[in-house]
Amino acid sequence: MQEDSAVLESPGVKIREGDSPRYNDEIVKKFCVMAVVWGIVGMLVGVLAAAELAFPALNMDIPQLTFGRIRPLHTNAVIFAFGGCVLFAAMFYSVQRTSRVRLFSDTLANITFWGWQLIIVLAALTLPLGMTAGKEYAELEWPIDLLIAAVWLVNGVNYFATIWKRKESHIYVGNWFYMAMIITITVLHVFNSLALPVSLTKSYSAYSGVQDAMVQWWYGHNAVGFFLTAGFLGIMYYFLPKQAGLPIYSYRLSILHFWTLIFLYVWAGPHHLLYTALPDWTQTLGMTFSVMLIAPSWGGMVNGIMTLKGAWEKLRTDPILKFMIVAISFYGMSTFEGPMLAIRAVNALSHYTDWGIGHVHSGALGWVAMISIGALYYMVPRVFGKVNMYSTKLINTHFWMATVGVVVYIVAMWISGITQGLMWRAVNADGSLTYTFAESVAAMHPYYVMRFLGGALYLAGMLVMAYNVLMTAKAGERRVA
Ligand code: HEM
Ligand code: HEM
Repeated sequence: MQEDSAVLESPGVKIREGDSPRYNDEIVKKFCVMAVVWGIVGMLVGVLAAAELAFPALNMDIPQLTFGRIRPLHTNAVIFAFGGCVLFAAMFYSVQRTSRVRLFSDTLANITFWGWQLIIVLAALTLPLGMTAGKEYAELEWPIDLLIAAVWLVNGVNYFATIWKRKESHIYVGNWFYMAMIITITVLHVFNSLALPVSLTKSYSAYSGVQDAMVQWWYGHNAVGFFLTAGFLGIMYYFLPKQAGLPIYSYRLSILHFWTLIFLYVWAGPHHLLYTALPDWTQTLGMTFSVMLIAPSWGGMVNGIMTLKGAWEKLRTDPILKFMIVAISFYGMSTFEGPMLAIRAVNALSHYTDWGIGHVHSGALGWVAMISIGALYYMVPRVFGKVNMYSTKLINTHFWMATVGVVVYIVAMWISGITQGLMWRAVNADGSLTYTFAESVAAMHPYYVMRFLGGALYLAGMLVMAYNVLMTAKAGERRVA
């Protein structure tokens, strides 16, 4: 694994040729493979959900297949199964290299792997059966919540202990983002999940009324901020310079990005509860901090994009870099759109509409999934001991399928979302509503078909990736030790 010398140059970080110890790449390999598997499963469920919204009869009146049950299955699968496996793979891969030590404990890493897979399987069984705590992105019932806390803690101990025994005095900025994620998600998960169990499969939230909503969206927003954003920024800060073969544009900017992002994010949750019973000042606080969040987010985007300064031609030939740069562009776009949606007047139009779904997927499919795919293509050949991915052409094909897929998806949602918002607020001269709700549902049909097609194309790209990964493992050219 000698390729990991140099390039992450920054104050204090010099990973020298010849001094890389033997790393635990087995664990990275397992998480990479499962990331591809869960990515396909999660997106398949997403495509099914999209198809059901366009053609409701597709649920065939089977309760386990109804939209209300498969929707949380989709979100849990893509965020925690796919996103989680990518994060663990990337964390284990990069913390060892930037610290120049092997993981603190292989046993703890294996417990993390098997524990996480068990949680995913339990989620896949309980959610379609209708067992749910009813909190978005925290639907799993209390026994699974306890398991999540235990596995997350095991990983936290292993990660921090690896950093502790590092042979490199400096802690590379990517690791700062992972550490913030580990600490914050622990606090969020524990407090949001506090509940009174009444049976093995049912519990009631410890909070009630508007407090429950506040805690839920403090959690929900920061799950986005720390799991889907900070964690994947950790990925960007390691894998982008490695793939480009260039140091990060500004290390100073990355530190500023880190501190401002984690300071601002935690206050923005109330933007999910505008025009509700939440005290007005709390809503204004959420709105203000959301608008301020543009600054660190765009600082991070500029830092990522400018890393390629003077080497733009690499984008012509390297599809892995294309994935990463397009991901960072979507990061910039969704973090511009988010603060706009947080402004009360805009939210009055966008809330409850598909505009929100478009925003979510420009962040999720555009940013999170694209940077994940780029990092997976970087890691897979290395952990399988191969020189390169089996086929660069197929990576390029995947890139175009994903890019066209996500654009079709979000454009459909923007049009349908704004149409919904305008139809719902249209009034006649006598004050009555111009459209019935059913008319607005019918008007969405073409856009729901369009979203289904965009999603199906994105999913097909993932299948191309699975084939490429399989062939890399089986037939790729071996790396000479
Ligand atoms: C093939 C790709 C995908 C398709 C077709 C798809 C489809 C869908 C559909 C139909 C919904 C329900 C929308 C509604 O309630 O009106 C949804 C929700 C959601 N999806 Fe996806 N999705 C895909 C990929 C992803 C990925 C990769 C992620 C995250 C990394 C993601 C995160 C979410 C989230 C967070 C929601 C809930 C949004 C909200 O409550 O506002 N999706 N998706
Ligand atoms: C500066 C950054 C961001 C801000 C200020 C922001 C703001 C917002 C706002 C105002 C909403 C709509 C709330 C509502 O009307 O219900 C929203 C929804 C959402 N955003 Fe963002 N956003 C940002 C970035 C992102 C990114 C990068 C992602 C994904 C990786 C993301 C994922 C989501 C999700 C999943 C929801 C739907 C939550 C739900 O209702 O279930 N956001 N965001």
